[in-house]
Amino acid sequence: MSFYITTPIYYANGEPHIGHAYTNTLADVSARFHRLYGEEAFFLTGLDEHGQKVEQAAALRNISPQQHCDEMMEKFKHLWTRLNIQPDDFLRTTEPRHKTVVQQVLQQLWDAGHIYSDTYSGYYELSEERFLTDKEMEEKGYTAESPEVTHIEEKNYFFKMSEHHDWLVQHIEQNPDFIQPEGRRKEMLGFLKQPLGDLCISRPKSRLSWGIELPFDTDYVTYVWFDALLNYISAPLSHGGPDNLERLWPQVTHLLGKDILMTHAIYWPTMLHAAGYAPPKQLIAHGWWMVENAKMSKSKGNSIDPLDMIEKYGADAFRYVLMREMALGLDSDFSEKAFVLRLNTDLANDFGNLLNRTLNLLHKYFDGVVPAPVAVGEAEQAIEALAQKTLQDTEQLVRGFKMNLALDTVLQLVRHANKYINDEAPWSVAKTDLPRAGTVLYYVLEVFRLAATLLSPVIPGKMESVLQQLGLDAQALKLEWGVLAAGTQTQKPEVLFPRQEYIEKEKPMENTVETPVKEEAVKAEAPVAAPEAPAEAPAEAVEPSYIGIEDFAKVELKVAEVVEAERVPKTDKLLRLIVKIGEEQRQIVAGIAAFYEPEKLIGQQVVVVTNLKPVKLRGIESRGMILAAKSGDQLSVLTPLNDVATGAQIS
Ligand code: ME8
Ligand code: MG
Repeated sequence: MSFYITTPIYYANGEPHIGHAYTNTLADVSARFHRLYGEEAFFLTGLDEHGQKVEQAAALRNISPQQHCDEMMEKFKHLWTRLNIQPDDFLRTTEPRHKTVVQQVLQQLWDAGHIYSDTYSGYYELSEERFLTDKEMEEKGYTAESPEVTHIEEKNYFFKMSEHHDWLVQHIEQNPDFIQPEGRRKEMLGFLKQPLGDLCISRPKSRLSWGIELPFDTDYVTYVWFDALLNYISAPLSHGGPDNLERLWPQVTHLLGKDILMTHAIYWPTMLHAAGYAPPKQLIAHGWWMVENAKMSKSKGNSIDPLDMIEKYGADAFRYVLMREMALGLDSDFSEKAFVLRLNTDLANDFGNLLNRTLNLLHKYFDGVVPAPVAVGEAEQAIEALAQKTLQDTEQLVRGFKMNLALDTVLQLVRHANKYINDEAPWSVAKTDLPRAGTVLYYVLEVFRLAATLLSPVIPGKMESVLQQLGLDAQALKLEWGVLAAGTQTQKPEVLFPRQEYIEKEKPMENTVETPVKEEAVKAEAPVAAPEAPAEAPAEAVEPSYIGIEDFAKVELKVAEVVEAERVPKTDKLLRLIVKIGEEQRQIVAGIAAFYEPEKLIGQQVVVVTNLKPVKLRGIESRGMILAAKSGDQLSVLTPLNDVATGAQIS
């Protein structure tokens, strides 16, 4: 089987930021996983170098567009190297191999009558590089005078996109996996309830010269999106021609941010359809990295430089956090503080400490030589079973691009090993029963060997060091249990993930005045929806303040099942719950410890607000809120009247 994965080709008008780093890391991690699964993987990324934005960026710097692009290319390539991202190809749209394909496709579509010329008059938005419909003008609040738009009347060339409307709707309906996640697919189907217009695919050279010339009219260049999308086929064509494309195309997955779903889900499949190609197998539209709830972008200037993060914490750490902190399809707020917390909890604490302890014990009792597992009992069988389940679950999650859940699954195995070693206490067993102590150490080390294999696509550098400490090499990266051989000489442990310190940036003066920290902390402690009197009730309640159904619809409520529950140490209010919502598991901290014994909750169905911004309570991440009713000092968690499937939407 072959796997073909692409990222968007980024505009060469600005510096790469963590949004770009995220998509490329996701592609790199997927490609590495597929290779681990024994498949051939082809990973394509590149740079979108034509169009008005790039032309203007170069003009501002007083250099030629080509020189500007050459410099940007170095910056992007440098970042990919520093991030340990290894694409199989990096395509630039100014390369002859790409231009040739764009012109061939244009000529083919022109000859077959899929393109016509017409005079067009309308409002053009530069930042989007496209004409807006009347409806869009209205939605964006633009008028003829708005500086964002220019009224243009000119002859242009149009692709008959409208003709493919019915085919496209049918394709999306019949292939539920074509656009993922599901919410995005619905959004596109919703958009397609309206007829499709035709697509303007040319720009007169008098207005824009930085582009690929139309083969049938040299006064025009190609619209930048029509040019850019074709990179996904021009790259494989340049590596072995039509045969290579034919082999890879049925397996292609395009990764992209939700900002450019429309071009990928509407323009691209219809272009391919007209040119006689199958649509891509899958579009994965991920959410946005935000900074303080605003989208990070070149134009806003609020971006975080990925090179800074790599400099401070290392490429592996940065890759890990990018993959761990974003749930597919949802937005995620980037905070360096949360970043450091994640590193310390997962990698320094759970992974690093346990490996360190175990190897130290191995050196103390066995001179660092792996013993044979000779005294296997129930606890060991349970570990092996969990390891097998981890292998299966992670593969399914990885194939669905749910890297955050896949990583969580691996860490759960590591945490289980932590509990196991504490329960079995090989340090005391060793005094009376050395083979038994050796068996325990073997099981923990084999968990590490397997976890290192499963984490290697995400943190390849660090996992190589883990293997070295275990006395193994890349041969040991196998997706099966029992690879670690007795007799292996391990090394003395070294700290792999030093605990990181987050130094809060100096606050501006106005923030140094007393802030009501206490109140906030109290509110956060009990994330239970209970009708409380608003802090500042309006003096006179004139009329109830209604909300529209669209406001209510913003709150995502789902049925969940509690699968784990425990008290949060050192508090008497908080319980840490793991709930199952459909196939997803997540952690929620709820302020209900005074009302429920944790065991009583396990197996119960509850109602969860699933799109609440994650918070940290006592350092524990809480992703959601359990609904409960409160009256006086009584509290009751809400549950559905009849059992329904977990994950069921509440409306
Ligand atoms: O759209 N969070 O290029 P672009 C997550 N050239 N991902 C982000 C992000 C954020 N805040 N910001 C950007 C273009 N991205 C076109 C693409 S493809 C044929 C042509 C990522 O430089 C995400 O993948 O604006 C998004 O779709 C892409 O960068 C947009 O990059
Ligand atoms: Mg953009």
